[in-house]
Amino acid sequence: MKIFLDTADLDEIRRAADAGLVDGITTNPSLISKVAGDRDPKEIYLKICEIVDGPISLEVVATDRETMVVEGRKLAAIHENAVVKVPLTEDGLKACRDLRSEGFSTNVTLCFSVSQALLAAKAGATYVSPFVGRIDDISGEGMDLIHQIRQVYDTYGYETQILAASIRHPVHVVESMMLGADCCTMPPKVLWQLSKHPLTDRGLEGFLADWNKLGAEI
Ligand code: E4P
Repeated sequence: MKIFLDTADLDEIRRAADAGLVDGITTNPSLISKVAGDRDPKEIYLKICEIVDGPISLEVVATDRETMVVEGRKLAAIHENAVVKVPLTEDGLKACRDLRSEGFSTNVTLCFSVSQALLAAKAGATYVSPFVGRIDDISGEGMDLIHQIRQVYDTYGYETQILAASIRHPVHVVESMMLGADCCTMPPKVLWQLSKHPLTDRGLEGFLADWNKLGAEI
């Protein structure tokens, strides 16, 4: 399963990229507005693309098909790894089809049902982003959606990749893997939480205490 980071924070992206742990990045208008300040978002998008050599999702903000396509072309022109993110609306699906026919990669976002995921696949989306955490937030079972989409895509041979999104904690990541999501995008905090285990800390403490008794050096 590919690990994507769900952030536009350049320091966090550098930190994870430095560890070689990141296959791609997803951004959205809320994430970019958190970090941009006075800077042009396009400059930040370019920097992200220069740091991580993998698919970088950049989202349109128009709501009509024609303008989404115009924005999508501009976003795609930022870098060859740009993936144009469009919302799962009627216009978004049409824009997805248009952009795909022009050869651009797309990520259809804000997916909350298997019927929506079916249409994203029919529109030729490169990725579909089911928002697991936001479904859990309203007392649903976000992970059921990943399972259902996997079943449908496998049954009918759709090639759209399932990009589990709105990830809130490590269990979401583990379940995404178990259910066969192709990619999982997570906040930096969750990425680092994946590495933690109290037995690792305790084990290391014991090893070092024993080694230090030797008073030796490597
Ligand atoms: C996906 O690409 C979105 O950027 C993201 O996962 C949304 O997550 P949130 O529900 O934490 O805002």
